[in-house]
Amino acid sequence: MAAGKGTRLKSKRPKVLHEISGRSLLLHVIAAAKSLVPANRIYCVIGHEADQVRHAVAHTGVHFILQAEQRGTGHALQIAKAHFAATGDVIPQNLIVLSGDAPLIRPETLQALSTFHAEQHASMTILTAVPSDPTGYGRVIRANPDAPDVTAIVEQKSLSPEQKNAPEINSGIYCFNTSALFAKLDLLSTNNAHGEYYLTDVAALLVADKQRVVAIQASSVDEVLGANTIAEMMHLDAAMRLATAHRLMAEGVTIFRPDTCVIDAEVQIAPDTIIEPYVQILGATRVGSDCRIRSYSVIHSSELGEGVLVRNGCILDHATIGDGAILGPYAHLRPESIIGPAAHVGNFCETKKITLGAGSKANHLTYLGDAIIGAGVNIGAGVITCNYDGVHKNTTTIGDHSFIGSDSTLVAPVTVGEGAYVAAGSCITDDVPSDALAFGRARQVTKSGWAATRRETIRANK
Ligand code: UD1
Ligand code: CA
Repeated sequence: MAAGKGTRLKSKRPKVLHEISGRSLLLHVIAAAKSLVPANRIYCVIGHEADQVRHAVAHTGVHFILQAEQRGTGHALQIAKAHFAATGDVIPQNLIVLSGDAPLIRPETLQALSTFHAEQHASMTILTAVPSDPTGYGRVIRANPDAPDVTAIVEQKSLSPEQKNAPEINSGIYCFNTSALFAKLDLLSTNNAHGEYYLTDVAALLVADKQRVVAIQASSVDEVLGANTIAEMMHLDAAMRLATAHRLMAEGVTIFRPDTCVIDAEVQIAPDTIIEPYVQILGATRVGSDCRIRSYSVIHSSELGEGVLVRNGCILDHATIGDGAILGPYAHLRPESIIGPAAHVGNFCETKKITLGAGSKANHLTYLGDAIIGAGVNIGAGVITCNYDGVHKNTTTIGDHSFIGSDSTLVAPVTVGEGAYVAAGSCITDDVPSDALAFGRARQVTKSGWAATRRETIRANK
């Protein structure tokens, strides 16, 4: 169910597209569902900003059901039932219902829910938890505390005074016998505090019909928590990131002060890599073993080989870094930067769409864009590839073992051959053949005694 607006967020973005741990709530939930069944057996009920939501998750391959008007969670399932009737899609024997705003749910827990449902021969099985503060959640009322049988789910606003402290919450995640559920949906009413069709009312309807409704508690409270406000969402974000950090540490990664690091759920890091405090590792980043990522670096969807040193304050975005390379401090590697093994990209260097060959060095204050740079090249301080002529991006090619003197500008398209030298301060507009030396600067003129004469003249005229 992902059709709701999320009024309590006070945001123009639909709730299920808000992000925690680097991806939308809904993508987390779909990922959990996909661990149980293939995408073509997953139906996503969308409604509020339906096009935007559909567009954001269409790549997962799930089906969509449009709930044009959102009249409650029971209504969402009424629409789903109508969808099956209209399309003739095979109605599954059992249906797991997930909430688009409860993203921490783990596949193991869904499996346990489904197994328990089958074992208990239940018509409805409710996943529950007992959090320290149950306020705001629907409460699951059991027939007696030691049995799985449930008599009803009561929404927060409908709790009677004696139910106010009922500790067990409804996670909004259920397993149904589909035909039992579908038979009761038309009996729901909107006679409640929100004037909505509550899916939760199906529990009492089934019980009245002498069908089994049971509850099973999730192994951890955190994984069933929902997010109705930004603050609750950030609580889930912190929980999920900490879980990611703990997964990585269990796999042999050292993370100093994991509470200060922002690591997305998809990130993979090999053992013996060390992450210093205040590092962000985002998107689909993969880091090899024996790397060290120093503080204040932000690495997005990049691939780092083994033994890479990322010094403080680097920004990497869709970059690929070879084994043993050294970056920074304060290097900015923009998309399609491919840095070879043992290469160095030093202080205040910016790269974009380049290959820098093995062992090549650009250590200081350089911009390298749209360049193909060979192995063993030395790029002096302040070198700039002038890649943009106002209309096109042009390529600079630099052969192996060449030397580009400090403060040179290379006006692309231009090629410097292998083993060539470019003198410091040159503006290179023509190709430089292999093994040549190129100057592209005015010759120095030195006038002996000129300064002394000038001082004399000034003094004489006072
Ligand atoms: C719901 C449950 C509550 C439970 C809580 C757990 C009901 C009536 N209450 O309350 O017992 O403790 O979840 O988090 O179900 N949605 C639709 N269409 C709609 C309305 C909602 O698709 O017409 C979707 C929302 O996008 C959301 C999910 O259903 O992903 C739950 O809706 P929400 O309004 O957040 O329900 P809660 O008030 O949290
Ligand atoms: Ca909710």
